[in-house]
Amino acid sequence: MPKNIKAVILAAGLGTRMKSQLPKVLHPLCGKPMIEHVVEAVRLAGIRDIICVAGYKSHMLKSALKGVKVVKQKRPLGSADALKQAKRYFKNFNGDIMVLCGDEPLIKTETLKRLINEHKRNGNYCTLLSARMPDPSGYGRIVRDGGGKVINIVEETEVSEFEKSIDEINTGTYCFKGRGLFSILNRIRNNNKKKEYFLTDAIPIINKNNLKADAIVTEDSEEALGVNSRKNLALASDVLRKRILAKLMKEGVTIVDPNSTYIDKDVKIGQDTTIYPSTIIEGNAKIGRGCRIGPFARIRPGCEITQGAEVGNFVELVRTKIGKGTRVKHHTYLGDTIVGNKVNIGAGTITANYDGKNKQKTYIDDGAFIGVGTILIAPVRIGKGATTGAGSVVTKNHNVPPKAVVAGVPAKILKQRRRK
Ligand code: UD1
Ligand code: CA
Repeated sequence: MPKNIKAVILAAGLGTRMKSQLPKVLHPLCGKPMIEHVVEAVRLAGIRDIICVAGYKSHMLKSALKGVKVVKQKRPLGSADALKQAKRYFKNFNGDIMVLCGDEPLIKTETLKRLINEHKRNGNYCTLLSARMPDPSGYGRIVRDGGGKVINIVEETEVSEFEKSIDEINTGTYCFKGRGLFSILNRIRNNNKKKEYFLTDAIPIINKNNLKADAIVTEDSEEALGVNSRKNLALASDVLRKRILAKLMKEGVTIVDPNSTYIDKDVKIGQDTTIYPSTIIEGNAKIGRGCRIGPFARIRPGCEITQGAEVGNFVELVRTKIGKGTRVKHHTYLGDTIVGNKVNIGAGTITANYDGKNKQKTYIDDGAFIGVGTILIAPVRIGKGATTGAGSVVTKNHNVPPKAVVAGVPAKILKQRRRK
């Protein structure tokens, strides 16, 4: 655990290139707002104190980010001005300040740990994370002198013809010493084409003060991807998706076709489960061991699929629990449903869980057999070992007793088998 370090995430930029009503950093990526991926990486690196600088619709960031202090930058005057807004949290603070961009969701915990270690070990005033980019356009270029010392960062709008070809770029992730940082920020001027106060202009000031500025290069340039447009967003989502799938495969999950499988970051899947092609698993869904999911299944947030269950093609589940060894194999929608163990859900079964005002619950108890094309109007319960005939419509509050056989529209009891 690194000691005496706080993090500031800059997220007040206008994000104009996104062309969106939603603040850029709240655009979702693999199941959560982009900025949450940054917060998570910072927390896992062992930093507890996190401050986020928000601009446009800052109240939305406040409610999205739990346990993060949010300060507002009234006008987007540049990244240096953004950092200044966090000053009140650093009174008499002599530790280190990590600064990150809220629009770089691919940044990895290991890299942040390495950055902190190098920063502390070398006694630098500023250590920044750089990357070698095949296409450096759009990023600030790192300018080093003949001896390899970092002397400046030149923004895209300011680069000379020669600097344009520099492929080492600034990722926008830095560790600074807290002592004196805010007075350095006060010395930054906005004499550039964008009329912004660039945080990157701290580097020449640090050098002038005979303090040490250095850069470490990330091994994986993908993590430096800044999301400034919808195109970048799709790219970031692709990289993250592949990382999630690789992790699951490493843990013993078979993904038949990674190219058509979409699994959100917080999804949990047990060993020896197979995910067939064109499957989407969202939010906090949890899938046990030895399940078979898909092809063409969509499992939405709030679902729990227990060991050995099967969820087949064209099945949509939301806020639904599926018990051990239960099979839901074809063309089904279950919402707000608790399904027990060893249940068979026939093709085309649909729960009517929304009455126009509220979501209502359906219970399908252990060993029940739901006939093809059954409609279950919630709230309703199908008892243990009960059967519904093909095409039944079980109306609300007309619970089916255990072991009963019902059929028809509305469903009526045809037979009551003996209960043991
Ligand atoms: C910035 C860096 C650039 C780096 C790139 C990495 C500066 C001057 N440039 O450029 O060297 O290569 O990130 O992606 O920092 N922000 C505010 N308030 C503002 C302006 C920006 O909070 O007034 C925030 C943004 O929300 C963003 C970050 O600061 O998270 C960087 O700003 P952005 O406008 O995206 O800068 P880039 O041009 O990408
Ligand atoms: Ca950016």
